[in-house]
Amino acid sequence: MQVLGIETSCDDTAAAVVDATGVLADVIHSQEVHRAYGGVVPELAGRAHAEKIVATVRAALAAAGVEKPAAVAATAGPGLQGAVLVGLCFGKALAAGWDVPFIGVNHLEGHLLSPLLEDPAPSFPFLALVVSGGHTTLYLARGLGDYPILGQTVDDAAGEAWDKVARMMELGYPGGPPVDALAAGWEGDAVVFPRPDPGGLNWSFSGLKTAVRTHLLRPDRQPDGAVCRGFQDAAVDVLVGRVLLAAAQTGIRQVAVSGGVAANSALRARLAALSTGPDAPLQVFLPPRGRCTDNGAMIAHAGRLRLLAGQRDPLSIGARAQWAPGT
Ligand code: KG4
Ligand code: ZN
Repeated sequence: MQVLGIETSCDDTAAAVVDATGVLADVIHSQEVHRAYGGVVPELAGRAHAEKIVATVRAALAAAGVEKPAAVAATAGPGLQGAVLVGLCFGKALAAGWDVPFIGVNHLEGHLLSPLLEDPAPSFPFLALVVSGGHTTLYLARGLGDYPILGQTVDDAAGEAWDKVARMMELGYPGGPPVDALAAGWEGDAVVFPRPDPGGLNWSFSGLKTAVRTHLLRPDRQPDGAVCRGFQDAAVDVLVGRVLLAAAQTGIRQVAVSGGVAANSALRARLAALSTGPDAPLQVFLPPRGRCTDNGAMIAHAGRLRLLAGQRDPLSIGARAQWAPGT
């Protein structure tokens, strides 16, 4: 069963086709228009999706060699409403025209299940850390659609912290890649920043962000590399710390990490080290970097799993701004 997946929840216009063998095509158009503003401008995102959606979907179908898929899946939320609506309505129109089933996919479920597209893949139950620009949540993935939350950020998302730190240093948007590159290239001492702990398996990133801002205002401000390295060390420490704690508490070693921040080189290296060797505390599953950030393949894949489980959505399904996966 070939499924077309469409993703337009934020600033990437993406379409992909998957079947039982894996990803047949995966096309992403990242919007450049937001760079000048240092963050995503919702109104501009919706307009840019409307301009690119037809060409992006056509390119994915052509690359996959598919004229008419067996079903269409599109992100129905959570996300920017004007952005979600473009892909959702376009997907519904295609499903209506082709007379094939439609599935409205939860964007977070798309990220959460994306490590299942890889080989090796985790098997239920596993811990699922979704760490992106809008969310930082640790789920216990017990089965398809069954994802109780073990912990989450009490304020900013981790990716947002990377973006804000980059903005303070005028490194551009999105901030993850330039902060990652400066941190990786820094060989001197790093600035030491706090590791905020709001308790349980939760995170807090706003205090860390403020600590970076305070440091940048000091007369003895350290070079950008030392700041980026210090910020990244602290953020990765707290992300990995909660995962280790959750593994110890639940006895579950399999950890699937997804979302844009999962592309971070320091986070990936730390997780890889924790899953190496006979006594490794974790068994980590990470999508390739290009499939950590928003993409159509994760939406097509989540939609396909839901279709195989017998789910269909009516074409009256609406966009949702807030939506916990599995609810
Ligand atoms: O999953 P995603 O593409 O969109 C959301 O659903 O939010 O994640 C985007 C986020 C941005 O905050 C971006 O700065 C961050 O992922 N990101 C990174 C890296 N690459 C992207 N954060 C840290 N290191 C990276 N290499
Ligand atoms: Zn995302």
